[in-house]
Amino acid sequence: MVETMTGHMNGRLFITTIGILTLALGCEIGPSSGRGLRLPDGDVAMGKVAFSELGCGGCHSVVGEPGKSPGEGAAPNVRLGGEVSRIHSYGELVTFIVNPSHRITGRYPRDTVAEGDVSKMELGNLNEKMTVAQLIDVVAYLQSKYERRREPMYVP
Ligand code: HEC
Repeated sequence: MVETMTGHMNGRLFITTIGILTLALGCEIGPSSGRGLRLPDGDVAMGKVAFSELGCGGCHSVVGEPGKSPGEGAAPNVRLGGEVSRIHSYGELVTFIVNPSHRITGRYPRDTVAEGDVSKMELGNLNEKMTVAQLIDVVAYLQSKYERRREPMYVP
């Protein structure tokens, strides 16, 4: 009896696991997935130059770099870099930059970073100005600015 119950439970767990995996993979495949996206390696120093030339600093400060102080001026000051619990993937950073309204950050009050469903970053029309080379280098530059937060050690 106990054995039958355990077997039954495992079966349900198995089906649930398959269900979750199918859902997760479902987002990865299909015509609009990012599967297969791989840009060439960027140059961190050139990325820093591009970041300044494109005016990214007008709305952003980068941890560890001199820049505008928080709250300066009317433009949003969204902090980039620093300690995060999970390093942003390559694909995420590219998406943040070329399609900012896809996922608007929850770190700031909504009305300071977006107008309705549109990120204030998109209103900057960066895609019209940025070259592919600049995008590649800016991603490399930003990736070098994030650091994985070390979880505090648990001392019993
Ligand atoms: C007109 C203001 C503006 C400009 C210019 C701008 N951004 Fe943004 N950016 C924002 C705002 C506002 C957000 C937060 C809302 C969102 O998630 O889209 C943001 C979000 C981001 C994020 C995601 C941050 C996070 O932790 O979720 C990245 C990465 C980023 N910007 C990079 C850049 C880069 C690189 C440039 C220059 C090529 C740039 N931004 C130029 C306003 C701007």
